[in-house]
Amino acid sequence: MNRLKVGIVGSKFAADFHCDSYSRNDKVEIAAVAAIDNLKEISSKWRIPDTYEDYNDMMKRDDIDLISVCVPNFLHHDVAIAAARAGKHILCEKPLATSVKDAREVIDVCNKEGVKLFYAEDWCFAPALQRVVQIVKEGAIGDVAYVKAKECHCGTHSPFAKNAKTCGGGSLIHLAIHPIGWALHFLSDQGRNKVVEVIGKTNAGESDNYVHKDNTGEDWAIGIMKFAGGQHAFVEGNYVTVGGMDDKVEIYGTEGLIKVDLTFGSPINVYSRPGYSYAIEKTDNTLGWTKPAVDEFYNLGYVAELAYVVDCVLSIKDPMYGVSGPAGLACLEIIDAMYRSNKEGRTITGKW
Ligand SMILES: NC(=O)c1ccc[n+]([C@@H]2O[C@H](COP(=O)([O-])OP(=O)(O)OC[C@H]3O[C@@H](n4cnc5c(N)ncnc54)[C@H](O)[C@@H]3O)[C@@H](O)[C@H]2O)c1
Repeated sequence: MNRLKVGIVGSKFAADFHCDSYSRNDKVEIAAVAAIDNLKEISSKWRIPDTYEDYNDMMKRDDIDLISVCVPNFLHHDVAIAAARAGKHILCEKPLATSVKDAREVIDVCNKEGVKLFYAEDWCFAPALQRVVQIVKEGAIGDVAYVKAKECHCGTHSPFAKNAKTCGGGSLIHLAIHPIGWALHFLSDQGRNKVVEVIGKTNAGESDNYVHKDNTGEDWAIGIMKFAGGQHAFVEGNYVTVGGMDDKVEIYGTEGLIKVDLTFGSPINVYSRPGYSYAIEKTDNTLGWTKPAVDEFYNLGYVAELAYVVDCVLSIKDPMYGVSGPAGLACLEIIDAMYRSNKEGRTITGKW
């Protein structure tokens, strides 16, 4: 096999950046898309030949090798299991599921059906963060002691993500999962250096939220992870950050430090009185000084992430730890421990 046929479940925000990344890759053909709305728009934008209102119908096709799961979080479990049972490899958007139990079931079914499961943590492929890993490996900052990382913006566009039931929580599971997943990728030595202590603090949703009183999930969350090797990671995900999506990573070592700005690091500075169409994700205007991204999907890692998944499937290779089912599960176990820590007001210990 030297070319893959992909089916996408979902038709909006995430489906769009999956289509963008696949369409840059000449080893891939997007064969079909399944969703409950927006089918006409997405299929004509990306020239996708077939559309389905029920994803189960798409799974029946023998010619589709890989399924991109781009539906709301609560559907990841059902769609991934339907894909696995149909013998398709799976690239599942974050989070792997909305509960630890469901994530375990997804992994079990994939193992049983002999299909590959990829957990879509794009930060593992963000070019800036890949360069940072090289610099750290060279010994430039000595031994890594502490990582501080966040994804924050002004609120989700997706109605499913505003509801704690369909999201699995609030900004902790929906945004902070990126820094959590990246910290595991960076510090866990392929899953061997386990997280052994976790602390979490979040708003309680609705009237307890700072800004988003209609969200049943929290709009502010922080967490601390301690690894068996002694390193700490401080992570944050909030919906109270205006001015565009703010993704930042700081790494402190015994001999130096590194600071990365994933979303405001553009080399372009624009001052505009009338404004223009788009600067970066989640900006509500483009007036005055802005820093428009040159290629946002590339910078955030989606393009390289999807290319990696395609290459693994074509060459029958298992994913590295950071984008594997077990890493997706560990993220959920850590998030679950952070929610428990917040509720019980104590440090939660374990081995994730
Ligand atoms: N990696 C990232 O940075 C990133 C960014 C955004 C979203 N995501 C993830 O992608 C997923 C989708 O998010 P989104 O922002 O595109 O959501 P969205 O609300 O914009 O779109 C939801 C999509 O799911 C489809 N859908 C809903 N119910 C369905 C069903 N029963 N069968 C088939 N399709 C159905 C809808 O048609 C729609 O296309 C979420 O899990 C989210 O966490 C990841």
